[in-house]
Amino acid sequence: MDIDLLSPNSFAHGQPHDQFSWLREHDPVHWHPEPEATGFWAVTRHADIRAVGRDPATFSSTPSVMIPDDDMDLGDHQMMLMTDPPRHSALRKVVAREFIPKVAQGMRPRIETLATRIIDQVADAGACDLVTDVAGLMPSYVIADMFGIPHEDGVALYSLTEAIHSAPESQAPGAAMHAIIEMFNYANAVWEARRAEPTDDLASLIAHATVNGEELDLIDFNLFFLLLIDAGGDTTRNLVAGGMDTLFAHPVQLAWLAEDLETRLAPAVEELLRWVSPVVYMRRTAQRDTKIRGVPIAAGQKVVMYYGSANRDAEVFGPTADVLDLARTPNDHIAFGGGGPHFCLGAHIARVEIHAILRELLTRLDDLRPAGATEWLSSTFISGPKHLRVTYRSASASGLRPARRHVARTPILDALSEDRSE
Ligand code: HEM
Repeated sequence: MDIDLLSPNSFAHGQPHDQFSWLREHDPVHWHPEPEATGFWAVTRHADIRAVGRDPATFSSTPSVMIPDDDMDLGDHQMMLMTDPPRHSALRKVVAREFIPKVAQGMRPRIETLATRIIDQVADAGACDLVTDVAGLMPSYVIADMFGIPHEDGVALYSLTEAIHSAPESQAPGAAMHAIIEMFNYANAVWEARRAEPTDDLASLIAHATVNGEELDLIDFNLFFLLLIDAGGDTTRNLVAGGMDTLFAHPVQLAWLAEDLETRLAPAVEELLRWVSPVVYMRRTAQRDTKIRGVPIAAGQKVVMYYGSANRDAEVFGPTADVLDLARTPNDHIAFGGGGPHFCLGAHIARVEIHAILRELLTRLDDLRPAGATEWLSSTFISGPKHLRVTYRSASASGLRPARRHVARTPILDALSEDRSE
């Protein structure tokens, strides 16, 4: 089996499950070469990934969680995602209370209104691109609300994140760096506004925060801003668009889901998270000589956790690991991370967004179907459709606008809402 987890071609139609499956079975801690760099360990089993993610003392998030080493010189500053405890714990504490389950649940009515508005905008057209016209708008609007900036700016900032994640070969030289600079220019203006006049949004909270007695500065603010715009944008978008792509490919299960959204949507969303796994990997760096599954890892070597592979591991998901089962329970997927200190901060908000938009899509657009093949992003880091064109009966033509049904909270949803970061 040819293994190449660095080629965008391997991800041209979604995650390379043929390669992952071979690796899990034959070489679960696989030494992967890396052109012009040292190489890395590709870790593909669920248990190993959980163990690595939960041991930041051995497997550090510094200098980077991406495979290439970061070449941006930020002095003493570092994005929370790329730090380890105790610095990480202190930074996370600055924003953590804005992301707890209770706050996420409190955002539900507002998020449902946004979902209705997004579908209103496309309902009459009879056709749209689910990625750009629907799925991408939701996280952009939500993070814009949280930062207290206009929705259009949220959308523009989010489009920059795509350039940040795209493979260098697939775009103009320097495009990713240019996008980061544009993002920082915008963040600078927000910083100045909130420093001059505090408000009650997330931007003000960060702009006036102290960590270990020291005020955060402009660079800290910019890094938080970039992280929060970035982390919630194309991940949530890809889950919604990738989830719809999956449902279209499984019409019998789609019909089963639509029959009783109220009780079936919660487990279905978890299964779509497992199936799509929008974050392909996170990297760590070994701090000492150690072993994973008996394989010696030397201090300084890169260790890369492939979540999409872990989420198809038969050791956890049994003989149906490669089968989509919208009713799967329990569903111990690790699409939001394996439960260490960096466990996705936005998981609760993401679930509320995903529920709201899928419910609108599945109840309001009649005869919804794909129009042509799905185009995938050419990224080895974030997986999802780049374009997913669909058709449906326009609302005015069908004269139908089924009442939105409330999806009741279920024990599964409650259990999944528990913060697994500790
Ligand atoms: C389907 C949607 C999402 C997926 C699949 C996802 C996945 C992930 C993953 C895999 C990690 C790294 C976990 C680890 O290293 O252990 C992460 C971290 C993070 N996510 Fe998400 N995420 C999603 C949505 C969101 C949203 C909506 C937000 C914010 C509004 C968000 C904010 C963050 C932040 C800030 C971190 C870094 C946490 C830290 O370093 O402590 N994510 N996410």
